[in-house]
Amino acid sequence: MSSRTVIRGGLVITASDEIHADVLIEDGRIAALAASGTPAAGAFTADREIDATGKYVIPGGVDGHTHMQMPFGGTTAADTFETGTRAAAWGGTTTIVDFAIQSVGHTLREGLDAWHAKAEGNCAIDYAFHMIVSDVNPGTLKEMDLLVEEGVTSFKQFMAYPGVFYSDDGQILRAMQRAAGNGGLIMMHAENGIAIDVLVEQALARGETDPRHHGEVRKALLEAEATHRAIRLAQVAGAPLYVVHVSAQEAVAELVRARDEGLNVFGETCPQYLFLSTDNLAEPDFEGAKYVCSTPLRPREHQARLWQGLRTNDLQVVSTDHCPFCFTGQKELGRGDFSRIPNGLPGVENRMDLLHQAVVDGHISRRRWIEVACATPARMFGLYPKKGTITPGADADVVIYDPHAEQVMSAATHHMNVDYSAYEGKHVTGRVETVLSRGELVIDRREYTGHAGHGVYTPRSTCQYLN
Ligand code: URP
Ligand code: ZN
Ligand code: ZN
Ligand code: ZN
Repeated sequence: MSSRTVIRGGLVITASDEIHADVLIEDGRIAALAASGTPAAGAFTADREIDATGKYVIPGGVDGHTHMQMPFGGTTAADTFETGTRAAAWGGTTTIVDFAIQSVGHTLREGLDAWHAKAEGNCAIDYAFHMIVSDVNPGTLKEMDLLVEEGVTSFKQFMAYPGVFYSDDGQILRAMQRAAGNGGLIMMHAENGIAIDVLVEQALARGETDPRHHGEVRKALLEAEATHRAIRLAQVAGAPLYVVHVSAQEAVAELVRARDEGLNVFGETCPQYLFLSTDNLAEPDFEGAKYVCSTPLRPREHQARLWQGLRTNDLQVVSTDHCPFCFTGQKELGRGDFSRIPNGLPGVENRMDLLHQAVVDGHISRRRWIEVACATPARMFGLYPKKGTITPGADADVVIYDPHAEQVMSAATHHMNVDYSAYEGKHVTGRVETVLSRGELVIDRREYTGHAGHGVYTPRSTCQYLN
């Protein structure tokens, strides 16, 4: 039986438009839009009407970088696919692209199957996968072609974490050459991990064991150097490149130079680099461990360059890199040795709100908010226009957003399965009120009405953002 919902009277915001329109949803998809108050809108009939007067009607967020229940640093990220996708929905995100992992000595297929098994039947919202390539060999390269064909169209490589995920320049070049041929997108963790490991060892030998030293040894110059090297390797291979979690202004400069040369080079940053800094890493009593992630938080002066990059489209995407570890029992593994603190921050629930606060603060426009958080990640990762916009035919992944509500971020009220908030006490204007995923209410006026297993695996096409 067909089900119809109409959302009336809101300001519909997409990456390209802002219009007062009623939105008709039929069988899980956007069926039509019509200017509110017109006969065309009046003719929309539905089983369910949602009043969005005074609210924004925006596409559900697309978070292109999450790590649910990821084994890392001797422990496992605290959000399961179930808890993490539920928290994402609370925060107005309706699609995640998580990272399946190939471990050294195993195939891509084994890694992908393992991640499907973790996610299937457990997600509140739709999900897709990137593939972390940790072992570039002839078999892996052949498998990359197969994965692209079945909808896993992006591959993360690491210039950091020697002995774990690390690839050397030759392995990176080979994977990039393969991506150039099969349409895949290489995503790069750009930090010179070999040099960083030397600095880690030297810092620990000097007795510098506190969390703040994590930020000091993972130098901005070593992010910039790796970013430069990744760009030139991609240029040699003739492949596009997406640099993940950009935090250093010097790395942004490398992206700007490459983009000015016309290269298909893209950059992602994350809320933690826009709102937090080395001041947090220096918090006393080991509290700084809560903010240990890689690339690391930078001194506050880097933030202006990141905001500028977002405005000028030298950075295209804001993802969370959601990789939560509890302070108690997980971050604490690194007491007395910052290099043992599991790397990663929680944030999947906070991204849409923090970026709305950026609109309120004047850093970006409303449409740019939707572009960096919904439309461009959908395009970048081959999900558009099914995801990331509100247009006839798109999945009805829609958020009713109250731009005037006030909230204070806190672990006491968030839904992520982690015992602290990186934004504890932060006042934010704006809040998610209602969330639909393929037309189904997941959050209904601040009540969770979703269920594990509603979210489905969503294969992707190749990157839709190339020059
Ligand atoms: O610290 C981080 N970013 N943890 C997640 C893994 C990664 O490198 O993205
Ligand atoms: Zn990374
Ligand atoms: Zn990550
Ligand atoms: Zn359902």
